[in-house]
Amino acid sequence: MNQETAWETLYQQGNMGWDRGEVSPALSHWLASGLHKNQRILIPGCGRGHEVLELARLGFDVTALDIAPTAIKALNRALTENDLHANVMCGDLFHYEPEQAFDAIYEQTCLCAIAPDQRQAYADKLYHWLQDDGQLYFSMMQTGEEGGPPYHCDFLDMRKLFPSPQWQWMDSPPTMISRPKGTRYELAFLLRKKS
Ligand SMILES: C[S@@+](CC[C@H](N)C(=O)[O-])C[C@H]1O[C@@H](n2cnc3c(N)ncnc32)[C@H](O)[C@@H]1O
Repeated sequence: MNQETAWETLYQQGNMGWDRGEVSPALSHWLASGLHKNQRILIPGCGRGHEVLELARLGFDVTALDIAPTAIKALNRALTENDLHANVMCGDLFHYEPEQAFDAIYEQTCLCAIAPDQRQAYADKLYHWLQDDGQLYFSMMQTGEEGGPPYHCDFLDMRKLFPSPQWQWMDSPPTMISRPKGTRYELAFLLRKKS
């Protein structure tokens, strides 16, 4: 089964253990600590897009992308019902080429959905999509387990994937983002693309 079909099947079956059904505490954390309004922000692997709706409501210029048509359909419906606007696309992020770079990217558990042998290609995309000095708001999944998805985002692996010549890791400890149930959690880090 290819990636699109695999994710689409999970959405069609309602088998979405990752979906909180509401905005992640990670977004509230970043909004409280300096994610400024009126930015051009990208959410890759947005899923049903609770954070897309919230950022659109707050006045951000949001672009959102997911490979699963059912997730995108649900997001578009919610945007219409709430009289909100975002640039929403259904497609594979590995083929995504924006016309203009973004001020910020909100990465919420999309990396953990990507097979480890494609991680470098995804990290390169994130770098390419951001303008110089752009911010990467990053929630890294912690499963403590082998295999996936979701694939565990080991801190040292992440430091290698987002190395200091290209990225500045903000000098503050990560924030722990709990999941509604189970022992998994996310670590929220802020990175800046170096010019
Ligand atoms: C773990 S889910 C997270 C969804 C959402 N960010 C959330 O927190 O609810 C991963 C998402 O990435 C999407 N995805 C996986 N591979 C993708 C790809 N190659 N291109 C675009 N989206 C992809 C899946 O369809 C899924 O919605």
